[in-house]
Amino acid sequence: MIRRANISDIEDILSILEPYTKEGIVLKRTHEEIADSIEHFYVSETEGKLSGVAAYFTYSPLLVEIRSLAVRKSFFAKGIGKRLVKKIIHDIREINPKVKIFALTLSPEFFAKCGFKKVEKETLPEKIWKDCVNCIKQNECDEIPMVYAE
Ligand SMILES: CC(C)(COP(=O)(O)OP(=O)(O)OC[C@H]1O[C@@H](n2cnc3c(N)ncnc32)[C@H](O)[C@@H]1OP(=O)(O)O)[C@@H](O)C(=O)NCCC(=O)NCCS
Repeated sequence: MIRRANISDIEDILSILEPYTKEGIVLKRTHEEIADSIEHFYVSETEGKLSGVAAYFTYSPLLVEIRSLAVRKSFFAKGIGKRLVKKIIHDIREINPKVKIFALTLSPEFFAKCGFKKVEKETLPEKIWKDCVNCIKQNECDEIPMVYAE
């Protein structure tokens, strides 16, 4: 089941993200940051446990990023990541069908399966690179920009 997150999910969300933030695959988020934007977080529940998380960030009414996407390793390859992404796309497009939805990712094959296509970094506005200061990789960014193309 995919549903919007609420404040009581934050500890679980942090525990899902933690292994990947340590590896530098997902950007670190604090409890406070998640609380401040909890309405943009979605979680999946599997067998009574939170199995995955995904969020979006609105840069403008026409530009939205999918971020903080992670599934617990024990729940990989069950379609959970894809369902989280599709649910966010559905909800965002319901509000504005013309919005451009992008992701910066080290998992391009996964996002391709979700209907995203690789784009040149320069095609996305400068402001999206503002989070780089919080990233352990900083100027050695190896993330691949992808845009939803369905
Ligand atoms: C990427 C991630 C969210 C995928 O979650 P998941 O629930 O295992 O993925 P799904 O089961 O929904 O997979 C959907 C499709 O993508 C494919 N896929 C998933 N991960 C893949 C990978 N690493 N490489 C290639 N294909 C992959 C699946 O085979 C599946 O294909 P299908 O639709 O043909 O069956 C999960 O591996 C993860 O949390 N990784 C660590 C954090 C991360 O990389 N987050 C993304 C950063 S933006």
